[in-house]
Amino acid sequence: MNKIKKSFFCQNCGAQHVKWQGQCNTCKEWNSLLEEIVSNESQQNWKAQNQINNSASNALQVSQIRESDETILDSSDQELNRVLGTGIISGSLILLSGEPGVGKSTLLLQIVMNLNFKALYVSGEESQNQIKLRAERIKSSSNNCYILNETLIENIFDQIKKIEPAIVIIDSIQTLKSINIENSPGSVSQIKGCTEQFIKFCKKTNIPVFLVGHITKDGQIAGPKILEHMVDVVLHFEGDRNNVYRILRAKKNRYGSTSEIGIYMMESIGLSAVSNPNELLIPYKEEFLSGHAIACILEGSRPLMIEVQALVSSAVYGTPQRTSNGFNSKRLNMLLAVLEKRAGFTLGTKDVFINITGGISVEDPSIDLAVITAILSSYHDISVSQEHCFSAEIGLSGEIRPVSKIDQRIKECSKLGYKNFVTSKSSKIQKSNNKTEIISVSKIEELINYLFG
Ligand code: TYD
Ligand code: MG
Repeated sequence: MNKIKKSFFCQNCGAQHVKWQGQCNTCKEWNSLLEEIVSNESQQNWKAQNQINNSASNALQVSQIRESDETILDSSDQELNRVLGTGIISGSLILLSGEPGVGKSTLLLQIVMNLNFKALYVSGEESQNQIKLRAERIKSSSNNCYILNETLIENIFDQIKKIEPAIVIIDSIQTLKSINIENSPGSVSQIKGCTEQFIKFCKKTNIPVFLVGHITKDGQIAGPKILEHMVDVVLHFEGDRNNVYRILRAKKNRYGSTSEIGIYMMESIGLSAVSNPNELLIPYKEEFLSGHAIACILEGSRPLMIEVQALVSSAVYGTPQRTSNGFNSKRLNMLLAVLEKRAGFTLGTKDVFINITGGISVEDPSIDLAVITAILSSYHDISVSQEHCFSAEIGLSGEIRPVSKIDQRIKECSKLGYKNFVTSKSSKIQKSNNKTEIISVSKIEELINYLFG
């Protein structure tokens, strides 16, 4: 008799457990174990076949390895090309994750609708009609894009054979199901099994595949963590649904750097690339209020101007609130502690709120100086001129530290018409004929003296 073996898998990290328990031993997530079938005859046969195939490859010296005929498909989307490095590498498996409604399906549909070669868009979530409506909104009239509404992976491969597309989109990996795996779609074994099949498919046919991946409520990609290890590129599409800006970031890239970002705007006719973000992110205001400061941060190789807003008010309750939107709240606490210890500000009885406008979240520490400036400006209720731009990191002893690619940042500020660039005294700035005046400070006290006298 065919004996079915079952085991418990953590739906968060994919770890296997022999019995049910409340908390996963590996990732410590509560209530994430689910019983799944681990082996039956068909699965074992499938696994055995794979093992035989795998053992066929031989070890080779680097010089013996033939260069593969990797080609790069130009996606005609400059922002995506920038994030991926050069373009879509043939045979790559790319995972695109993001919150529901951020625009993953729109982005991928838009990309394939603008290609000059055949593409297959497989959706397990929306009907062909719904996708047609979306395609009409995007206003692209490509006849190269085939739409398929399917969730069974075997049927998808049949269609791929028939259509012979140059690129395949799967929306989403959590809806796929393989007949060889007897668990429901979205379970650890289905996600793992289907992704493995796509890896084999990509490497065998050299066709690039995009997988859409859902994320959990705490921002992780739903399904086993191993999914991120399996694919070649992990892209994350982020943005506030109430805001028009969307950012495409590479979290992992086997073919290039992960530091570049792509900026899009969600409009009524789909997503449009923002090639000059600095002119859009900070419009000139008649009156620049207190609590505002402009930071020059670096995202990838591009300097970006970001407006930081702070509100410091007396705490109503015993424990003051510290809330930050788009900025790491632990870093905010650190900056507040530095202000208290090194500059004598008693912020222990004050609520502090930080907001980065545009729905953008910033990790570059060069934003520190602008955050501190915005807090001080709100504290004193004195506005800082919007012709100033700040870029430096703050150390624990209150020292203002230099940041990378300073010349590039100054050049961008000068191009945008900022009069003053405030940075660390220890920055090594090359002499140039930029119109922007450099203001160097080495300690928070010097910054306070300069700004508020
Ligand atoms: P969608 O691509 O369905 O998101 P995801 O696949 O990540 O869940 O995007 C849905 C949102 O995008 C929806 O709230 C409406 C908005 N949208 C526009 O604003 N303009 C458009 O042209 C399209 C197609 C969508
Ligand atoms: Mg979608």
